[in-house]
Amino acid sequence: MRLVILGPQGAGKGTQSARIVEKYDIPVIATGDMFRWAISHENEVGQEARDYVRRGRLVPDELTIEIVRGRLSQDDASDGFLLDGFPRTLAQAEALDVILEERGQALDAALAIEVPEEVSLRRLLGRRVCSNCGRNYHLDSPPQDNWTCDRCGGKVERRADDDEEATIRERLKNYHDSTEPLKSYYEERDTLRVIPGEGTMDEVFDRIVAAL
Ligand code: AP5
Ligand code: MG
Ligand code: ZN
Repeated sequence: MRLVILGPQGAGKGTQSARIVEKYDIPVIATGDMFRWAISHENEVGQEARDYVRRGRLVPDELTIEIVRGRLSQDDASDGFLLDGFPRTLAQAEALDVILEERGQALDAALAIEVPEEVSLRRLLGRRVCSNCGRNYHLDSPPQDNWTCDRCGGKVERRADDDEEATIRERLKNYHDSTEPLKSYYEERDTLRVIPGEGTMDEVFDRIVAAL
């Protein structure tokens, strides 16, 4: 299964990705996680991406496409993958089609999770993330033991780009300007599956499984 998942910030892309990859046994490739890892390891990609990610701006297409191309060429992605947070621009969507064409492959579906802006804001302002394994929590559903990850024992903290409402709004604006138009791109290719993102995490997941 070859999938991409689109949606505004806080729609639950990361939350649902974790469930999808478990059910379909495919690797998740999340560009935001890759950038955050590179930034915390202070490598070359991290140095280039740092300011964009902190301010909630899109990292330039060239660098983003290069890291995705590299990651997709690894063995575990040869017969299936879920891309979380990529593509986010028309140039990225076209580049992905070229990469897949070179491999004689195509996407099975582009899932677009939809939530209204106030839901995005509420979820992101309350989100807390494991700094070690990336698992999501929320002020309303914290880990069992004092902000220590239930899965790995890592420290659970706020993401740097969830800190200020202004940064979240900038990210949402980027989504509406650059990424939302991709829905028509995938609709034209008959791969778009729109998923309402409100309701419980299980309800949203059931909708995804039904759509697939
Ligand atoms: P990225 O890491 O992809 O962040 P994002 O797009 O801002 O999306 P989020 O991770 O904030 O939202 P999500 O939909 O995953 O929500 P989640 O599941 O966590 O990108 C970060 C940055 O990297 C970008 O700003 C950019 O700078 C750069 N970047 C990345 N990819 C790029 C690209 N392709 N091109 C250029 N730049 C790129 O859920 C949110 C919260 O809600 C959690 O607390 C969760 O527990 C809760 N929640 C989820 N579902 C539900 C539910 N059904 N009910 C109640 N609560 C829920
Ligand atoms: Mg995410
Ligand atoms: Zn963890």
